[in-house]
Amino acid sequence: MTGPLFPPTFRASLDQLFTWRRDVRHFRTDPVPEAVLTRLLETACLAPSVGLSEPWRFVRVEAPGRRAAIRENFARCNTDALTGHSGEDARRYATLKLAGLDDAPHQIAVFCDTNPAQGRGLGRGTMPETTVWSAVMAIHTFWLAATAEGVGLGWVSILEPDEVSRTLCMPPDWQFLAYLCVGYPAEQADTPELERRGWEQRNPARRRWIIR
Ligand SMILES: Cc1cc2nc3c(=O)[nH]c(=O)nc-3n(C[C@H](O)[C@H](O)[C@H](O)COP(=O)(O)O)c2cc1C
Repeated sequence: MTGPLFPPTFRASLDQLFTWRRDVRHFRTDPVPEAVLTRLLETACLAPSVGLSEPWRFVRVEAPGRRAAIRENFARCNTDALTGHSGEDARRYATLKLAGLDDAPHQIAVFCDTNPAQGRGLGRGTMPETTVWSAVMAIHTFWLAATAEGVGLGWVSILEPDEVSRTLCMPPDWQFLAYLCVGYPAEQADTPELERRGWEQRNPARRRWIIR
């Protein structure tokens, strides 16, 4: 079978996609059409996975009570995180809106089934953590596909994971990985918000590699 050709114009667009993919913290409140969300989740499932185990588990969080519980979990963890910083750092940290939890119309929790029957254990004997890596690749695939459709994603990890699992009544083998706020971004940018706000910047040294 002959595969598709990816012409230079496509590669140029792909570069733009990588450049403009952002962690979004400011969302419009209008919903993303269901057909688009479904397509993005299906695209996420094209990610590679160890032994073809497809260990990602996407959970759409809709119930207002559960959303409120996640919001409280975040507020508590965010307060704790703030106490780890002092002075100017604390001021900066406090001004960052670390979650689109209040505005994003969609919320998706992502778990990894750490002991999936699918894949029959292939490839994860010596490195069981490869199941988690596989699920993270699905998140990244979702992120890029969303960007291509003009949909923004904000990754929230300032949460107590066991509490998230309890709030969403998840099985014990499912490890919580990420809480994603999803919706149309209020603004677009080609640089990370943390860089624009002076918290951190990309380091050119990370764009070099080591030769042995
Ligand atoms: C594993 C992971 C966890 C993250 N958790 C948070 C978070 O809890 N709060 C937040 O504001 N951003 C979070 N982010 C987003 C990063 O801050 C963001 O990716 C980084 O600043 C670079 O910005 P960019 O994604 O727009 O390029 C997370 C990103 C990753 C990959």
